[in-house]
Amino acid sequence: MDSEEIERIAVLGAGNMGHGIAEVAALAGYTVTMRDINEEFVQNGYDQIEWSLDKLAEKDQISRGEADSALDRVTPVVDLSEAVGDADVVIEAVPEKMDIKKEVYREVAEHAPSEAIFATNTSSLSITELSEVSDRPEQFCGMHFFNPPVRMQLVEVISGAHTADDTLDTIEALAESMGKTPVRVRKDSPGFIVNRILVPLMNEAAWIVRGDDATVAEVDSTTKFDLGLPMGSFELADQVGIDVGYHVLEYMHQELGDAYRPCPLLAEKVEAENLGKKTGKGFYDYENGGADIPTDAGRDDVAERLLAVVANEVAGLVDADVADPDAIDQAVKLGAGFPDGPAKMADDHGLESLVETLDE
Ligand code: 3HC
Repeated sequence: MDSEEIERIAVLGAGNMGHGIAEVAALAGYTVTMRDINEEFVQNGYDQIEWSLDKLAEKDQISRGEADSALDRVTPVVDLSEAVGDADVVIEAVPEKMDIKKEVYREVAEHAPSEAIFATNTSSLSITELSEVSDRPEQFCGMHFFNPPVRMQLVEVISGAHTADDTLDTIEALAESMGKTPVRVRKDSPGFIVNRILVPLMNEAAWIVRGDDATVAEVDSTTKFDLGLPMGSFELADQVGIDVGYHVLEYMHQELGDAYRPCPLLAEKVEAENLGKKTGKGFYDYENGGADIPTDAGRDDVAERLLAVVANEVAGLVDADVADPDAIDQAVKLGAGFPDGPAKMADDHGLESLVETLDE
C-alpha cells in the first residue's frame, strides 16, 4: 500500500503509548479507532487524549478547532473486529510481552483487510518473531514511538527478516506525515537503538542506588544537571513506566546476557505496582508534587558510571552493525531529547577513563 492511500488507522492499546500514538495520528488528519480490552481502559486513554489536546490548545501549540476535530477523529472501541475491520494500518501498542503480542496478532490477522500493514510499537521484542504469527510477514514492521509521542520527534522504523521494502517506505512516509522524523534501524536487535541506550542507563542508576553508592536525588541531579539530559534517570523511568523498562530489561537479559540483569529495585516497584507517573507513584510521588531534583547534588563518580554504561551500549550497537555513531546520536537526540548524542558525549568525556570504569 502507498502512504497516500492511508486514511484509517487502528491503534491497539490505549495505554501511555497507545493513546499518544492515536492522538498523533488524529492530529495528522487520520481517522483513528483506538482499542483496548475493556471500556475502562479505552475510556481512560480517550480522556488522556482529551487532556493532552486541551493542554496543547491552552499553550497555543494548536488551535481549539484543531483540538476538537482531532478528538472527533478518534473512536474508542473494545471490539477488535470493529477496530481493525477497515483499517489501512494497524499500530499495535499492547503490553510488552511476547505472548500477549502474539495472541493479539493471531486475532488481528483474522479481522484486518488483507492489504493492511501491521506496525508494532514494541520497545524491544523481535519484529521477525512477531511477524511470523501474523498472516503477512512482508507487510509487518516496527514503528516505535517515544514517550510522550506528542512531544518526542523520533520514530524508529524497524525491518524484520521478512519485511518488504515497500512496507518500510510506507511506514516511513506515514511517520513523516505525522510530523515525525523516522530513523531506519538496520537490524532487528533487542531495544533497537534508543532503548538499548536508555534502558541500561536506567538499570545502572538503579544498581547505583541499590548498592548504596548514591541516593536517587544524587543520581538524578547528576543525570539532569551534570550530564545535561532532559530528565533524571529515575524521573525518566517514572515517565516511561517502570514496568515497561523492566520488561525490556528482562528481554535484553534473556537475549543479550547477564550484563542486562534487571536491578531488584525495579522488580520491587513493579511488584508493588508503583509504576511511575501513570500510577501516581514510582520513584517519585506524583500526588505530592512529582520529581523535585536538586540542582547541586551531582557527583563525578555517578556521572562516570552512567556515561560508561551509555558508551558501552553505543559500542555494542556499532559492533553489532545495528547503527553507526551518527545514526545513534541522531536517534537519541530526537527520541530522548539528549542535547548531545551519546557517542559524542562519550568522545568528549574521553574513552580511556570510561573503559577503566567499565573494567572496574
Ligand atoms: N500532551 C500535552 N502536554 C503535555 C504532555 C502531553 N502528552 N506531557 C506533558 N505535557 C505538558 C506538561 O503537563 C507540562 O505542562 P505545564 O507546564 O502546564 O505543567 C508541559 O508539557 C511540560 O512541557 P515543557 O516543554 O515545559 O517540559 P520540558 O521542557 O521538561 O519537556 C519533555 C518535557 C519533552 C518530556 C522532556 O522532559 C524530555 O524530552 N524528556 C525525555 C523523555 C524521553 O526520554 N522519552 C523517551 C523515553 S523512552 C521511550 O519512550 C521508549 C519506550 O519504548 C520505553
